[in-house]
Amino acid sequence: MSKLNMNNEIKKVEKRIEQAIISKDPTLEAAAKHLFTSGGKRVRPAFAILSGQFGETESEDVYRVAVALELIHMATLVHDDVIDKSDRRRGRLTISKKWDQSTAILTGNFLLALGLEYISYIEDNRVHKVISHSIVDVCKGELFQFQDQFNSNQTITNYLRRINRKTALLIQLSTEVGAIAAGADIKTIHNLKMIGHYIGMSFQIVDDILDFTSTEKQLGKPVGSDLMNGHLTLPVLLEMKVNTEFKTQIAALSPESNKAEFEACINTIRQSNVIQTAQEISDKYLDKALSLIDELENDSAKPLFKKIIKKVGKRNV
Ligand code: IPE
Ligand code: IPE
Ligand code: MG
Ligand code: MG
Ligand code: MG
Repeated sequence: MSKLNMNNEIKKVEKRIEQAIISKDPTLEAAAKHLFTSGGKRVRPAFAILSGQFGETESEDVYRVAVALELIHMATLVHDDVIDKSDRRRGRLTISKKWDQSTAILTGNFLLALGLEYISYIEDNRVHKVISHSIVDVCKGELFQFQDQFNSNQTITNYLRRINRKTALLIQLSTEVGAIAAGADIKTIHNLKMIGHYIGMSFQIVDDILDFTSTEKQLGKPVGSDLMNGHLTLPVLLEMKVNTEFKTQIAALSPESNKAEFEACINTIRQSNVIQTAQEISDKYLDKALSLIDELENDSAKPLFKKIIKKVGKRNV
């Protein structure tokens, strides 16, 4: 296989997405375009294409998977912003804010359906089974998060299970299904699935750290919002273990708490070394992914894969 140029590959994926979101309904098309043209890191397509390098064939199916997963990801973002009542995404107004909530819900459904339609041409039934099963689990992840809102008695295991479902699964899909679409052997598919799982766990931990350490300008989405929405993430759970006063403060929070109460908690986290601890936990997941890459067989594809994983782990957006 010729040497992979990731920028070119992503451009190929974007061209296909641009085509896919064309619709007879002007509002749906405008809303989907609004999100699509606002950027995004395109990590799921990138991992699908990288994983496709470990297969036997160069196949259009790998692009089908890459496109579908970005569309499904976009659907989860649109619905996530409704659930989290966010007004900014990728530096722009969210669809709810620019249009209204019904438009956002419909656009999310539209993008999800487009993603599924886009892969319907793939014959290998494993692809459809794995993807539909994972989408069910992603929904469960968001539901469990709802049930855990403002629950100061939840465990870190609970958190890990939740982020596995809401985020890691989709990244795991990109590596697993990317490999299946390229005709990789069973062992390689399994390895790539695990690599995707570890990258995905690290990915959400970093996202949760950035919610405390970054700015809205940098991220293009609100910061400090997890806690305000009652989502207790890794830094908070770690701090509660070592700081009983903080634990009492968190236990007292509710949707009715005022901004100052939230900000006091957010500031505690910002100044605490739990940010560092959370980063180390994220790095451990990445290390597991990196060592599994060593076990794969296509040597020429490994360096770029590793480079991109490291970049994703150190990202600041
Ligand atoms: C944001 O995903 C939601 C999470 C699962 C953390 P990304 O960080 O991949 O968002 P974009 O696509 O780059 O905007
Ligand atoms: C990401 O959770 C999970 C999904 C989009 C399914 P977040 O709520 O942390 O995502 P951001 O931070 O809004 O992108
Ligand atoms: Mg959310
Ligand atoms: Mg959100
Ligand atoms: Mg987040």
